Amino acid sequence: MQIDIMTLFPEMFEGPFQASIIKRALEAGLVSIDVHNIRDWAPGKHRQCDDTPYGGGGGMIMKPEPLFNAVEAVLGVEVDTASPVAPPCPIVLMTPQGRPLTQAKARELAGHERLVLVCGRYEGIDERVREHLITDQISIGDYVLSGGELAAMVVVDGVTRLLPGALGDPEATQQDSFSSGLLEYPHYTRPATFRGWEVPKALLTGHHAKLTRWRRQASLYRTWTRRPDLLEHARLSEDDLEYLASLDVESKP
Ligand code: 6GU
Repeated sequence: MQIDIMTLFPEMFEGPFQASIIKRALEAGLVSIDVHNIRDWAPGKHRQCDDTPYGGGGGMIMKPEPLFNAVEAVLGVEVDTASPVAPPCPIVLMTPQGRPLTQAKARELAGHERLVLVCGRYEGIDERVREHLITDQISIGDYVLSGGELAAMVVVDGVTRLLPGALGDPEATQQDSFSSGLLEYPHYTRPATFRGWEVPKALLTGHHAKLTRWRRQASLYRTWTRRPDLLEHARLSEDDLEYLASLDVESKP
């Protein structure tokens, strides 16, 4: 997979891709990430990328020309003109006005051979960029960041770990929180007793059915207490529903 990131702050990306899973995925050739400075495509001596808004009001707006030039140069296509060609891959604007990033969206993005992530900055971006260049708009949550850069890093991480071969254990992503529509169950490792706190008995007996049931119920309990909104869309068995109906705050598994 090829990921191109368009940003006015390429230096922000120097650290985060050089550790752990993304680093290994880069080294294994599963993904290639290129960070492009939008300013390199801004015309004029000053390479100006922002300007004041028409109609007045505060703040600076990202100009359309540098962004169009940058994306067209990187993809080798012209996106505007009277006979627009379909863009060859998703061109995603990172913005708090986008659709919330979900595990399903990460999975969808991971299915493409190429992605362009455009990081918005300043107070906004000329609307013609959204209308004629961008194919997708993604937000990483209901709060405001000073730019799309950190959000783009979140997308790169969430997508890269889903690429086949990126994780040591190919089943790991099936157990992830959200993959099943529920939060993941709690994990424990040795020692069995730490400062007097014990690991739940069901995990120690080697009884497979008990283990599976404990994990399922722990997952349901956790979702019920922390993210009850997720239960509306999760796939639940008769057993699950019966367990949920039995719950009250005292019933931690
Ligand atoms: Cl994608 N960008 C910005 N600037 N703020 C955000 C965001 C994105 N997602 C949540 N807040």
